[in-house]
Amino acid sequence: MKQIVTIDGPSGSGKGTIAQLLARNLGWHFLDSGALYRLLGLAAERRGLASTQTAPLAALARSLRVEFVGERVFLDGEDVSGAIRTEQAGNAASKVAAVAEVRAALLEWQRACARDPGLVADGRDMGSVVFPDAPLKVFLTAEPEERARRRYKQLKEKGIDVNLADLVEEIRERDERDRNRPVAPLKPPDGALELDSTGLSVDEVFDRVLKAVRQAFPGLVV
Ligand code: DC
Repeated sequence: MKQIVTIDGPSGSGKGTIAQLLARNLGWHFLDSGALYRLLGLAAERRGLASTQTAPLAALARSLRVEFVGERVFLDGEDVSGAIRTEQAGNAASKVAAVAEVRAALLEWQRACARDPGLVADGRDMGSVVFPDAPLKVFLTAEPEERARRRYKQLKEKGIDVNLADLVEEIRERDERDRNRPVAPLKPPDGALELDSTGLSVDEVFDRVLKAVRQAFPGLVV
């Protein structure tokens, strides 16, 4: 399956919004890989597992019973769509995501999402590790303050109570961990289209991505 677009970037860069819009527009599948790490972070917290317990974490990653039903996410049959979106779950995700055995355990599951007619994959290492042969790789960034403001707005809209100053600090910490881990660190993959979305509207970013999609997949009508 060759029709793959990867969209990587740090938290709050807008990659989730753009990736979902693109998947909907193209009629392709959508992989929210961050949700997988968030699910695992949540499951690990519930079992009292620390990120140093690599073998039990990897076993948990392999046995995770996950279901995506439309916009809802289920863990062992329980709807955890809200629980995985908190900053606490994001931080727990970032910690388990630094464990090499965990990443290896989730690799095949993610690759199996590449099915016809195509896949838009959103994450940190979609272009660099999971789908290195994707014809189009996008790396989306934005200034940290803008990313914090966007996350703040998103969380508030979901009814999640947050403090902007705490959010700036959490985003900084999470970026640092995601960029500096030895396995699959967050960085632009080779050949990626790098887009800085600071000061741009969703429509403006989406237009640029669509242009790149048309170039990468000339037969596609979008
Ligand atoms: O995109 P997100 O905020 O939902 O991701 C949560 C955390 O999961 C993020 O801080 C790092 C980790 N992650 C990862 O390591 N690799 C991915 N492909 C996606 C997410």
